[in-house]
Amino acid sequence: MGTFVTPALVFLFIFYTVCGYEAIGVNGYPKYNTGSGIVEGKLNVHLVPHSHDDVGWLKTIDQYYVGSNNSIQGACVENVLDSVVMSLRRDRNRKFVFAEMAFFHRWWIRQSPEIQEVVRNLVASGQLEFVNGGWCMHDEATCHYIDMIDQTTLGHQLIKNEFNITPRAGWQIDPFGHSAVQAYLLGAEVGFDSVHFARIDYQDRAKRKVDKALEVIWRGSRTFGSSSQIFTNVFPVHYSPPNGFHFEVNDDFVPVQDDPLIFDVNVDKRVNDFIDASIIQANVTRTNHIMWTMGDDFQYQYAESWFKEMDKLIHYVNKDGRVNALYSTPSLYVDAKHAANESWPLKTDDFFPYADDENAYWTGFFTSRPAFKRYVRVLSGYYLVSPISFFLLVP
Ligand SMILES: *[C@@H]1O[C@H](CO)[C@@H](O)[C@H](O)[C@H]1NC(C)=O
Ligand SMILES: *[C@@H]1O[C@H](CO)[C@@H](O)[C@H](O)[C@H]1NC(C)=O
Ligand SMILES: *[C@@H]1O[C@H](CO)[C@@H](O)[C@H](O)[C@H]1NC(C)=O
Ligand SMILES: [Zn+2]
Repeated sequence: MGTFVTPALVFLFIFYTVCGYEAIGVNGYPKYNTGSGIVEGKLNVHLVPHSHDDVGWLKTIDQYYVGSNNSIQGACVENVLDSVVMSLRRDRNRKFVFAEMAFFHRWWIRQSPEIQEVVRNLVASGQLEFVNGGWCMHDEATCHYIDMIDQTTLGHQLIKNEFNITPRAGWQIDPFGHSAVQAYLLGAEVGFDSVHFARIDYQDRAKRKVDKALEVIWRGSRTFGSSSQIFTNVFPVHYSPPNGFHFEVNDDFVPVQDDPLIFDVNVDKRVNDFIDASIIQANVTRTNHIMWTMGDDFQYQYAESWFKEMDKLIHYVNKDGRVNALYSTPSLYVDAKHAANESWPLKTDDFFPYADDENAYWTGFFTSRPAFKRYVRVLSGYYLVSPISFFLLVP
């Protein structure tokens, strides 16, 4: 620029100073303060970025991974993992949780040593957290418990071998109801310290909201009692964010617009929206910590779309100061819950059957496809017997 200052530049400078938001520098590079931790005495809104990636649903797992047959469903998990890693590298305050090792394994074995090193660092620093960490997010109603253990073990072995850690949080966000046996297996056997999910009966949820009993201590085993209990977090709506905060690249959302040179600056409005949605959730939650699940099915195919909006929301909401917003994970959230010294309601039985509305009971799958279920049982039996035979035959 030199020393040549035109009236236009003077005008621009005044314009920015008067109308601009603090994050926009005169040279146009926005710098957002995304590094807030927990603030005592304020309502803390834990933003937990996640992508829910079914290991086979409308497409096969391989079609979901490579992004083929997108006319059936626009979904490519390879893109999700590629783009999340790039976005996490851009700002070390950003966080992400990932659950399905069937997808992660397909991706991991094709990465360069450089990217693998980047990912190891992201995991070590807590920016990338594995939740559940089984091969998939298993059903809890129709499968044999041996298969739940086997598939969880397979995923955890991969994580242990590659990263030398074990996941802390159960993340059963989509299975259609939840069994007490699962609570026992996750708490006592797998060693998780929490489990998080969305789907419980709609009437049960309504009552729990009034009683602030969505978060409970769940004792799934009568035999083991408190020695196998687990902190359980049932989401107040679903595993998506509150309405209006869903930022996938092709969604019709209202971006936080803070650039005074572009139309429709709306920072104050979006900050108010954020605070309104926080207060609604705080009203049904014990302690001053609430979790927003920032993601949905096969989201983050262009991760910047989510992270850009969350960066701006964290910056401007915290500048406003009425509530405190932060990037978080289920582990950080549960640590904060424990630190709050709250006492929690007790739960001992199942979350079955599941109905999400009047006359909408999701119980057909208990009995459907019996031939397929038998096939799984028979193969599971062979799978169980084979290592035992190997042990006996090969001394
Ligand atoms: C998926 O895509 C392949 C290749 O284009 C095609 O042959 C196959 O019919 C598709 N499958 C379905 C179920 O549409
Ligand atoms: C808070 O909860 C009470 C009791 O369930 C309800 O009557 C009230 O409308 C709620 N307020 C907000 C802001 O959600
Ligand atoms: C919780 O209890 C511990 C031990 O009594 C205490 O040090 C801590 O300040 C308490 N935390 C809160 C948020 O009350
Ligand atoms: Zn699902």
